[in-house]
Amino acid sequence: MASSCDVIVAFGGGSAIDAAKAILFFTARQTGKVFEFIAIPTTSGTGSDATAATVITDLQAKVKHLFADPMMLPAVALLNPDFTRSVPKPIVANTGIDVLTHALEAYVAQGRDNFSDCFAEKSVQIITQSLLITYNDPDNTYHRKQMQVASTMAGMAFNKAGLGINHGIAHNLGGMFHIPHGLANAILLPHVVTFNSRDEGCLNRYAQLAKVTGIAPFTDTARVAVDKLIVYIRDIMEKMEMPTSLIAWGMDRNEFEAGKRQLAENALVDTCTQTTPLMPTADEVLEILNNISQ
Ligand SMILES: NC(=O)c1ccc[n+]([C@@H]2O[C@H](COP(=O)([O-])OP(=O)(O)OC[C@H]3O[C@@H](n4cnc5c(N)ncnc54)[C@H](O)[C@@H]3O)[C@@H](O)[C@H]2O)c1
Ligand SMILES: [Fe+2]
Repeated sequence: MASSCDVIVAFGGGSAIDAAKAILFFTARQTGKVFEFIAIPTTSGTGSDATAATVITDLQAKVKHLFADPMMLPAVALLNPDFTRSVPKPIVANTGIDVLTHALEAYVAQGRDNFSDCFAEKSVQIITQSLLITYNDPDNTYHRKQMQVASTMAGMAFNKAGLGINHGIAHNLGGMFHIPHGLANAILLPHVVTFNSRDEGCLNRYAQLAKVTGIAPFTDTARVAVDKLIVYIRDIMEKMEMPTSLIAWGMDRNEFEAGKRQLAENALVDTCTQTTPLMPTADEVLEILNNISQ
């Protein structure tokens, strides 16, 4: 492909940034040409401006694939809160919980370290202070800007640590039923935290995160602190008027029943699932799917 283009500027939500990343990646593979890459996010959600990952959908197989390559990490991420002012409320909610999911998954993922922990903790702390205000008052530039920073920080956290089964299932819910990415994550999140907390190491990690971010006091036992984390997630979803089950979102029950076994199997081979802290069986993924369908 002949081109005099030197720079790709991606301006938009995660979908637009990921499309630019795929263009960048496949152009380099086919022609050897590598572009300078600048990302300007207009949602505070995916953190794609700070990750080497892109998510592309295989429409025929009805599966979303996340793949990463260092060349897709933007050289520059430009954060300007003016660009997120027009985001509609339901998308503020979905993308905001996507940020929370990135931070929570990164905090327990297999690739985590002190650097990813640090970004995840700060991101969750900002979310507790700024997400609801951003949802209720779009003109509050300070908190909208804070959410933009939280989104990028959570991206930096999971770019190092990896994600987990929450995203593994969400990608397949998106691919199969076209449920928005952040909403799929949100509906799953309390259930995945509950599932992962069967592992004592995970329970303790979630408890630590809940305590350092002020969701639970330091005097709580790990179990009580994690319960408060789950209550926090449910509470903020309710305040942002988000559906808490697939049926409440509008999922067709027959379609879901017909697709769920395949979905569970696909979720287990998703790239994100490979760094999950407690690998579920297909039956355990099905159990989570049944729980979120109610
Ligand atoms: N690359 C990564 O690291 C990564 C991580 C998580 C998710 N993702 C992927 O990102 C995609 C989701 O991205 P998203 O949640 O940002 O949503 P999106 O980019 O799909 O945008 C959602 C909707 O909001 C609109 N929109 C975007 N910015 C707006 C603005 N400022 N004002 C008004 N409307 C606006 C879009 O046009 C679209 O209709 C999914 O495909 C998901 O799988 C990627
Ligand atoms: Fe995500």
